Amino acid sequence: MTLRIDLKSAILALSDALDLVGVNDFQHGKRVAMIARETGLMLGLPEKRLDRLVCASLLHDLGVSSTAVHRRLQREADWDDRHAHCERGYRLLRPFAYLSLVANAIRYHHTPWRELPTGLSEADALDSNLILLADRVDAMLLQKGLENPLFNRDGVVEAIATLAGSLLSPDAVKAFVAAAAREAFWIALVPRHVHSYLNDLALSDWRITIDFPQFGHVARLISSIVDAKSPFTAAHSLGVAQLARHLGEGVGLSGDALAELQVAGLMHDVGKLCVPDEIVDKPAGLTPLEFSVMERHSFETYQILRHIPGLGQVAEWAAFHHEALNGHGYPFRCGPDRLAREARIVAVADVFQALAQERPYRGAQRAEQIPRFLNDFVRRGVLDRDIVALACEDLDGSWRAATQVLPESAGE
Ligand SMILES: [Fe+2]
Ligand SMILES: [Fe+2]
Ligand SMILES: [Fe+2]
Repeated sequence: MTLRIDLKSAILALSDALDLVGVNDFQHGKRVAMIARETGLMLGLPEKRLDRLVCASLLHDLGVSSTAVHRRLQREADWDDRHAHCERGYRLLRPFAYLSLVANAIRYHHTPWRELPTGLSEADALDSNLILLADRVDAMLLQKGLENPLFNRDGVVEAIATLAGSLLSPDAVKAFVAAAAREAFWIALVPRHVHSYLNDLALSDWRITIDFPQFGHVARLISSIVDAKSPFTAAHSLGVAQLARHLGEGVGLSGDALAELQVAGLMHDVGKLCVPDEIVDKPAGLTPLEFSVMERHSFETYQILRHIPGLGQVAEWAAFHHEALNGHGYPFRCGPDRLAREARIVAVADVFQALAQERPYRGAQRAEQIPRFLNDFVRRGVLDRDIVALACEDLDGSWRAATQVLPESAGE
């Protein structure tokens, strides 16, 4: 049976993943979507256009994996390097069949209204400027603290009004001022309500079912955002996915089962987006406090993936990659009964690929050194003996899968 996934859930999951990069200003993309949509409603945009605007807003910071870059974008409206993430988001979305529709709006979401390219469609120009407006509103709210947005209404509205005609479209500003007159607009920006606002939207145009290979493109997109977080983890998720697939073939899986395993590998570290760059790139051992932050990542992976209907057990296979057969892994402390063969494969692939890469605190291991480390994990009751044996039997094949981009990779 072919698994089928609802694109709306996939977009919301992608937005949950991007939200993690905000760390302290959680839900930035979702608040931008609300502010932009409420302003679009005042402009009389039809439902179809509003849905597109919401999707573009949710994903607008797709090009930002680094917590430091995110922080800077919030604080400095005219930071010279701000366009890099717009371009990167555009490039990530352009090849994807459905999401390419919003690529242009994302490409220009830091371009002043007066400087938008003349060839841009009216819809893309307006959407990009509405995102810019909403992004500025949210940055101001964050500076003042998000506990009571309504209290800060006047200062924000006045500041936005001064940008009409230069940074922002005068019509968009007028519509924002009208939307902002309602107290509900501001009260709804607190986390609890943001969540239900978005869940309640029908987003009918995005209620399409995509099949598993197409979902592989979304997973590949997410994995490249995760892998871009640190120079040390370049292509880590992709390597884990390829090796998991390779080992899956070795245990006799085929068809959809292999595609699912590959998706689990691509997404296993998506929760790492919430770990500050300083911790991921730290050149020494982590302090207990830093380690407790790092340990959150596989839990976050689970929370994001389990909300995608149709994904079945993939969420567990991905999120259990730091669990151990002896029950001393994290964060759920699953024992052997809950660790499916696929989860054990992802765990072995994760350790293998990480050993093959340099880390801030150690060099990369050569292929022939890896079995010693893996067997040590088997002895300590962490990794599965049979899967490790399989990975080591064909060390060359495992090494190639873990370290080279293979042509059959999902999304290629
Ligand atoms: Fe933003
Ligand atoms: Fe991990
Ligand atoms: Fe990993």
